[in-house]
Amino acid sequence: MADRDANLIVALDFPTSDAALELARQLNPEDVRLKVGKQLFTAAGPDVVRVLQDLGFDIFLDLKFHDIPNTVAEAVRAAAALGVWMVNVHASGGSRMMQAAREAASAAARPPLLIGVTVLTSMAREDLAELHWDAEPIDRVCELASLAASAGLDGVVCSAAEASVLSRQHSPDFSLVTPGIRQQGDAAGDQRRIVTPLDAVAAGATHLVVGRSITASQNPAATVAQIRASLATG
Ligand code: C5P
Repeated sequence: MADRDANLIVALDFPTSDAALELARQLNPEDVRLKVGKQLFTAAGPDVVRVLQDLGFDIFLDLKFHDIPNTVAEAVRAAAALGVWMVNVHASGGSRMMQAAREAASAAARPPLLIGVTVLTSMAREDLAELHWDAEPIDRVCELASLAASAGLDGVVCSAAEASVLSRQHSPDFSLVTPGIRQQGDAAGDQRRIVTPLDAVAAGATHLVVGRSITASQNPAATVAQIRASLATG
């Protein structure tokens, strides 16, 4: 299994455990990891994570923690105890919060990768201005990614365009986890800026998060195979 193949993460954005498991059972843990986000986790709880792990999948628990340092540290500790492979926090929670999360993750028997969310890709300059953050999103992303790296986080979530900038500023082992991926011909849905898997990797993304391209496919396993093939021939 090539490294890049291992870095394909399927977003299980489903309302129920049954729907998530029906999709997961069509996929191979050798080919993909799975992302459990706020919708599925709120509906189905940690049990769905355990069942997916029992099927052999590594889980990215995408709950984007943002709270006082102690609360975030305890939430990260609970995620690590659940055995997840990756977990994330908002970098805008600040250095003390991220350092507390880092200490909690590192203290685990099997420390998960700890990833920072910089600026949500749904936010444009006017959204930042409303919050009195007078900056272009990319500048804010770079500042928050540096803060995350200084706090010892393992990487950040970013768009492919941001990955091309961040990959020049950080070491290759700083993970750049990139959503907004579509294959040629897919519907964009609500994503504003979309790129193909190969373009995202070329831009510097180390992990690709793919949701609807795979989950809404008539044949999810075939779509995974196509994406893997597109990366292998790139
Ligand atoms: O279906 P689609 O491929 O657009 O799904 C992308 C996934 O990545 C969703 O689970 C979404 O919540 C997540 N995500 C994102 N943009 C971010 C962070 C996470 O699209 N900045």
